[in-house]
Amino acid sequence: MALDPVPSDFTGEPVPTERSKVTLARVMGVMDANNYGDVHGGVIMRSVDEAGAVAAVRHSNGPAVTAFMDQMAFLEPVKLGDLLTTRAQVNWSGRTSMEVGIRVTVQRMGLEGEVHVATAHLVFVAIDAQGRPRPVPPVQPETEHDRLRFQEAQIRRTSRLERRAAIKRLREQGLDS
Ligand SMILES: CC(C)(COP(=O)(O)OP(=O)(O)OC[C@H]1O[C@@H](n2cnc3c(N)ncnc32)[C@H](O)[C@@H]1OP(=O)(O)O)[C@@H](O)C(=O)NCCC(=O)NCCS
Repeated sequence: MALDPVPSDFTGEPVPTERSKVTLARVMGVMDANNYGDVHGGVIMRSVDEAGAVAAVRHSNGPAVTAFMDQMAFLEPVKLGDLLTTRAQVNWSGRTSMEVGIRVTVQRMGLEGEVHVATAHLVFVAIDAQGRPRPVPPVQPETEHDRLRFQEAQIRRTSRLERRAAIKRLREQGLDS
């Protein structure tokens, strides 16, 4: 019998932003890079997805899947030997979905400080044992930064849903004509 991943003590109480925060770090190896020593964009996207998933699982206290990824700009190259760090937190939650913000930085071998490589926003949906969306607790932003991220996430959410609805309408019109 499959276990129900939704914890029996689920209360829907707001979860402080701090609870979902996660930092993952890994040194980039030869398998991550091309022949010139540049790390593949897909490797960075994978670490973004991994950190985002951990934050979403922490917030929702159970399994969550990636539902949507916003555009992502690569601001600086990542090189073989760099320490790649991804920091993630749940910015906002709806009924079953969560927006996770992920910041990617690198520390170059032998150099001080971190270089900002990318920022990404992903939507995760919490799922039950049957893979159906399940309710998630609200986010309780604690700092001024967290409150700002919460509001920005709501703006992005509105824009994602509007874009999806507009494309759906256009396709339906196109099929009718
Ligand atoms: C994600 C998934 C569970 C959603 O299922 P669904 O039946 O479409 O669910 P719903 O339409 O009820 O949407 C669920 C939530 O996701 C949100 N959502 C769905 N698509 C979205 C999109 N393109 N952009 C933003 N939010 C989206 C909905 O707004 C809703 O949020 P809310 O409950 O907070 O209001 C389903 O599409 C799925 O399993 N996709 C595959 C996921 C996957 O394999 N990921 C990669 C490996 S982890």
